[in-house]
Amino acid sequence: MSHLSLQPLTENVNVRKTQNIPTMLLRKRILITSGPTREYLDPVRFLTNGSSGRMGAALAEAVLERGETPVMVSGPVALTYPDGAEIHRVETTEQMLECCLRLFPNCNGIIGAAAPCDFKPEYFSEQKLSKPEGNIDIVFRFTKTPDILATLGQIKRRDQWVVGFALETKNGRDLALKKLKQKKCDLIVLNSPESINRETASFQIFNASGELCADLNGSKKTAVKEIFALIDKYCIFETSEKD
Ligand code: C5P
Repeated sequence: MSHLSLQPLTENVNVRKTQNIPTMLLRKRILITSGPTREYLDPVRFLTNGSSGRMGAALAEAVLERGETPVMVSGPVALTYPDGAEIHRVETTEQMLECCLRLFPNCNGIIGAAAPCDFKPEYFSEQKLSKPEGNIDIVFRFTKTPDILATLGQIKRRDQWVVGFALETKNGRDLALKKLKQKKCDLIVLNSPESINRETASFQIFNASGELCADLNGSKKTAVKEIFALIDKYCIFETSEKD
């Protein structure tokens, strides 16, 4: 049944290709993951992080300025995304993955600006957990959540691209290059830890060969301009050649 329901999307993609409509004439759709995810321990308690969604919002604005459609898959954030962005709200990392898997086939590329939780509690308690009586600790076990970008990197078509972010407190370059390979990214943006919940940061951008293509200090808006200049340089693939 699920195969049948997916068929129309696949057919649409084929129609576009066989009609040979130049890609430039189609309004591009750029998938952007944004904000944090939440992993619930019980109905009222969850694990999360301080991601604000500001980078995602700055990326969405830039996509709109380019006359393209930002397709946002966002965890819970306080900010408002720009008008004109298509917004899909999710809470958990698994929901974010599921939503991206559904949308990715009809997008040109994905920018992973979200900070999805890498772990979730092994068990979810349907009832609110009570405070234990006496001097007893509570111990939780966590299991790994799926990696959204790595999953999409594995299934990307040859005409699609993947851009990742890395935020490290040490060995930034080495870890960013490791993630670039592991997640099959076409570009990776390494930003400094001070960027969390702030407007400015330092950014280094590496291409798929691991070459440093940009090294800048400044606002997220400036970084976003550079990211799209590099997407135009390194990530525009000819559909006909690659399929
Ligand atoms: O958390 P990590 O440093 O591995 O994040 C690197 C990149 O991978 C980011 O672009 C982030 O959005 C993405 N990511 C993801 N799914 C995860 C963890 C990270 O897509 N579960």
